[in-house]
Amino acid sequence: MPTSEKTKQPKILIPDVKLHARLAEIAQEISHDYRGKEIVAICILKGSFVFFSDLIRLIDVPMTCEFLGVSSYGNKMVSSGEVKVTLDINEPLENKHVIVFDDIVDSGLTLTYIMNSLRARNPASVKSCALLLKPECLKTEVEVDYVGFKIGKEFVVGYGIDYAGQFRGLPYVGYIEQGH
Ligand code: IMP
Ligand code: MG
Repeated sequence: MPTSEKTKQPKILIPDVKLHARLAEIAQEISHDYRGKEIVAICILKGSFVFFSDLIRLIDVPMTCEFLGVSSYGNKMVSSGEVKVTLDINEPLENKHVIVFDDIVDSGLTLTYIMNSLRARNPASVKSCALLLKPECLKTEVEVDYVGFKIGKEFVVGYGIDYAGQFRGLPYVGYIEQGH
């Protein structure tokens, strides 16, 4: 994407009302599935911070929150498959019910890496929740237990999701039309 496109106004793909309505449904599902349990909610930084903070406020089970920083993209628009941990979790996860919250599952490589490294910490259970899933882009079999929206191959931004650090503050999920 040329630098000029960073200043373009993204087009709306999922408006904020739709995001919030779907989050309420997911929160209800999670609250139901974990009734009587306590969860460790893990926010995958940076892209999930908006989605995560909206969603956890709707979940009605006791929880603690942890933040795991991973970087897989640099400023490129295709997955490198290489995952770098930029911020680790210091709390023990042993015997805890863990739910990982990620912004987008594209190739699935990042979430697979995260799930494997969390399983190695012997939690009682680990499930995953992604705001967006790109089924056509998957390169590995990864199970996403709670999915917000399935989308196409388009590169999206907003609602926490960036392109080259930009656009995280948009209240909606949008896409940038490629100029010719
Ligand atoms: P994966 O490893 O290919 O599944 O990539 C997942 C990560 O890549 C996401 O958590 C995002 O940080 C980033 N990513 C994937 N698709 C997009 C996109 O359309 N816009 C912005 N970031 C994306
Ligand atoms: Mg991410």
